[in-house]
Amino acid sequence: MGEWVRLCGREELPSESEAKEFCVRGHTLCVATLNGKPLALDNVCPHRGGPLAEGAIEHGKIVCPWHQWEFDLATGQAKQAATVKAMTYPLRQQDDDVLVEI
Ligand code: FES
Repeated sequence: MGEWVRLCGREELPSESEAKEFCVRGHTLCVATLNGKPLALDNVCPHRGGPLAEGAIEHGKIVCPWHQWEFDLATGQAKQAATVKAMTYPLRQQDDDVLVEI
């Protein structure tokens, strides 16, 4: 069981279908808003370490800018390899803050 810590204020969340990088407690996260819901993945692409938050979002997936692998924002599952997943982090909103479990 992880610890819930403040990620950002609600107003700092990325716009719909955009991704943004956040650093919290030594973790770098790729945060995106999809259908009004904020989602978080580890920012380090599990393929070869590309910066996921610098990628584009297409059809609910973040596309890594280095080799265009696609990762499901909700599950982290890679489209290109069934055994590869980006780590996901639970988020929740509390008052005006967004919390992440790390
Ligand atoms: S490093 Fe992300 S697709 Fe290769």
